Amino acid sequence: MMIVRTIAGLREALMAPREEDRRIGLVPTMGAFHDGHISLFRASAAECDLTVASLFVNPAQFGENEDLARYPRDEAGDARKAEDAGVDLLFVPSGDELYPPRFQTWIEVRELGAVLEGELRPLHFQGVATVCLKLFNITQPAVAYFGRKDAQQVAVIKTMIRELNLPIEIRSMPIVRDPDGLALSSRNVYLSADDRRHALALPRALEAGARADAAGRDAVAAAREILDATSGIRVDYVAVADLDGPTLAAAIRVGSTHLIDNVLLQRETPETA
Ligand code: PAJ
Repeated sequence: MMIVRTIAGLREALMAPREEDRRIGLVPTMGAFHDGHISLFRASAAECDLTVASLFVNPAQFGENEDLARYPRDEAGDARKAEDAGVDLLFVPSGDELYPPRFQTWIEVRELGAVLEGELRPLHFQGVATVCLKLFNITQPAVAYFGRKDAQQVAVIKTMIRELNLPIEIRSMPIVRDPDGLALSSRNVYLSADDRRHALALPRALEAGARADAAGRDAVAAAREILDATSGIRVDYVAVADLDGPTLAAAIRVGSTHLIDNVLLQRETPETA
């Protein structure tokens, strides 16, 4: 696996594969790889001729009081895991090159970017959409892989792709969970044993919500009931929205750790956010 740190270096490395018309898959990440990231690498390695993973902790998607400074970083460990999972090229750009001084061009997916996570974190999806568009332009992949763990992110990226006419296929991959049900997240390392026990209410509440919905009852009420009965957590939102399909989505805080999760609802027609 090759590690490339500059935009020019990546473009050069991709010149020959592009001329040979090889199918390029891109997996954008912020590192601290776990089995959720690995599942995306493996999917791309299986479906594409060449897999590029980007590793960049994108400051533009963190709010002022968020965890940018303490976000877990382990490039050497990540490089080993990426190589084992079939990544051909690891792109590790610098913040200075991606956001040069006086950077001022931002992508806003206005409505979808302003609800749920976007309401809690006002510039978050602007940062996500902008860095993803930059990575798409730099890499020019045929396919880009995202996890349904961040269902709203998938919906924002798909909206941007459609509305800006980008010739890129987006593959949305299933949520990878620990055996206890907690969705894997780079932020889970912040949780103490107690925190983790409390956090399990999140997947349980979503499951209960999905079951209620299938039985014709109120998914949000069923999920809320479980979350409200759990100590040690704060509920940020529980909602049904069309996030690339009808979705029950929720966010909680355990201490200062922000956790999100969601479940697709088995419905014929999606509801809107
Ligand atoms: P990051 O949190 O590193 O996630 C990278 C990709 O892994 C995302 O598409 C995310 O949805 C996926 N992922 C994370 N946990 C997962 C899980 N448990 N199961 C399946 N997929 C999972 O998401 C970002 O980075 C950033 O916002 C990024 C898109 C890279 C833009 O900066």
